Amino acid sequence: MTDLSRDGHKRQPFGQFPRVRLRRNRQEEWSRRLVAENLLTVNDLIWPVFVKEGGAAREPVPSMPGVFRHTIPALVKAAEKAAKLGIPALAIFPVVPRDRKSPRAEEAWRADNLVNRAVAAIKKVVPEIGIICDVALDPYTDHGHDGLMHNNVILNDETIDALVKQALAQATAGVDVVAPSDMMDGRIGRLRDALDANGFQRVKLLSYAAKYASGFYGPFRDAVGSKSSLGKGDKRTYQMDPANGDEALRECALDVAEGADMLMVKPGLPYLDVIWRVKHEFRLPTYAYQVSGEYAMIKAASVNGWLDNDRVVLESLLCFKRAGADGILTYSAIEVAERLAKG
Ligand code: PBG
Repeated sequence: MTDLSRDGHKRQPFGQFPRVRLRRNRQEEWSRRLVAENLLTVNDLIWPVFVKEGGAAREPVPSMPGVFRHTIPALVKAAEKAAKLGIPALAIFPVVPRDRKSPRAEEAWRADNLVNRAVAAIKKVVPEIGIICDVALDPYTDHGHDGLMHNNVILNDETIDALVKQALAQATAGVDVVAPSDMMDGRIGRLRDALDANGFQRVKLLSYAAKYASGFYGPFRDAVGSKSSLGKGDKRTYQMDPANGDEALRECALDVAEGADMLMVKPGLPYLDVIWRVKHEFRLPTYAYQVSGEYAMIKAASVNGWLDNDRVVLESLLCFKRAGADGILTYSAIEVAERLAKG
């Protein structure tokens, strides 16, 4: 039998009316605050944002109510707002014009491509906010895959050569954190070596270490326009099978050995067990990505009056903390920071 003596259960003889009442601590608001084991603060938030070329300052993403694609000047303003609210970092995703996409994704490492200009513009005006950029080729390939392809096969090692060029261009633009989301084997070590060899020792590596081939990325692919490129294709030869948990630990172990500074699990809520295991196994800063589909589900139910948006957003983020996440990438970062500031 389990020894429950630590919390006194053992002292209660079978059949006796409860001497131990867990509800006692829940009676008053002050008491609930006092016994709370986890806390969500603004320091836990990373805000993913979309940047586009010209046109209207911001345009809404239909499948993600409340989320916008910003021009660079509008994004700088948004970054200022995020910094004022105390949000530690942004993750920037580019909406790459069709005519900039190609089979070999050369646009990914052009010095003044959209994302690099956005990084430089934000760094100039809001140097105090951390900037994270995805390292993956999907915004730039005309086929919508994260890697280079030949005869429908993703070329792992050739892709890494391209990712290295992409990361160096981002580092030159002033990015603080490069976040490989491509799931090629061996990319963390190669990226670390290349960054160090080029004087970018300060640039951090946040590995999308356990990234699953998920249906929950749908609205994101709408937002950046990679869905039409990808068509009926899927990413199952490089992103992980949702059936697997042990394999996530192997992915993380390799990335830790290769020099990752931080780890990410993605998607978020359906993968809380993975977050828990990764955090407890490696003790690295570990982040959860509450992805576009998770955001869309909450918003869709809320606009219909079926869920209380404010309540379930905060609840879901707190649950990431309970599962061991040190922070959460969430499209709700601004609304949450505003609410936390109000107390
Ligand atoms: C691209 C990338 C994706 C997301 C982040 N980086 C999509 C994908 O892998 O197809 C998804 C984020 C989200 O759904 O919010 N490598």
